[in-house]
Amino acid sequence: MTRHFLTLMDLSPAELKQVIQRAILIKKQHRDETAVRTLDGKVLGMIFEKSSTRTRVSFESGIAQLGGSGLFLSSNDTQLGRGEPIEDTSRVISSMVDIIMIRTFSHASVEKFASYSRVPIINALTDSYHPCQLLADIQTYTEHRGDPQGKTVVWIGDGNNMCQSYINAAKQCDFQLNIACPDGYKPDQALLDANSDRITLFDNVEDAVKNTDWVVTDTWASMGQEEEKQARIDAFNGFQVTEELMSHANTDAVFMHCLPAYRGMEINDTVMDSKYSVVWDEAENRLHAQKALMEFLLGKF
Ligand code: CP
Ligand code: NVA
Repeated sequence: MTRHFLTLMDLSPAELKQVIQRAILIKKQHRDETAVRTLDGKVLGMIFEKSSTRTRVSFESGIAQLGGSGLFLSSNDTQLGRGEPIEDTSRVISSMVDIIMIRTFSHASVEKFASYSRVPIINALTDSYHPCQLLADIQTYTEHRGDPQGKTVVWIGDGNNMCQSYINAAKQCDFQLNIACPDGYKPDQALLDANSDRITLFDNVEDAVKNTDWVVTDTWASMGQEEEKQARIDAFNGFQVTEELMSHANTDAVFMHCLPAYRGMEINDTVMDSKYSVVWDEAENRLHAQKALMEFLLGKF
């Protein structure tokens, strides 16, 4: 059966642990130059309907390092951008490549693409979820502090695709999640309700951060929300992560941000380079975590 990775819930908790452990191992092998080319000759189709730095570079480098090759397909340069239906595109592309990653707007589009595909589909960000980033984040926490099970994570800011992916991660990794979002910017209510046993909502950011092990934020205006930017800057006033705010967390707390970051908005000038920050390891781990994911989806372990 073809396995897809549209949200973190597509892996069992045990499979997620396996992927993370594999990512940690192949990162070491990559550095030692002992890595094995497990996906020799495989082709990864990479469909981008939104911009990217990390996702494109990590997937394209990752498949090359595993012995395969990546095909960058921007919607502007394919017939998708001129209205060819998703179902036709999926049937055709999946008959020619071994695995496909898609970055787009609507989550339903990725689900539709997957339902017509004969090869694994990876969600490389939709308006609703960004599960690849969570693989890297979980790997990073595990490397720095060990298993996240039983820890408390705090999300500060917009209840966006990253926040919703953290809700899934809370379930899959068994941690508690505090969420501090302004009114009108909370995550999906059904998702909150389904996970109410492990989520606590806060209005006050200092209260939310108290006794936490892992602090996360993201941009206030995601891709596709450019026109709302000023309204969002106003609404998120008071939700900036600073070193002062971090000092209310546990002393060994880490700070993460999926990047790109906007200094002066969701973070101040210094927190990215503070003692709490693991953002550069987090970004690098996109490479290793997605290599492990592609191996998993193609049945290599
Ligand atoms: N974090 C992340 O997905 O970055 P890009 O938008 O640069 O791919
Ligand atoms: N929430 C952000 C994440 C970017 C990687 C966005 O969707 O633009």
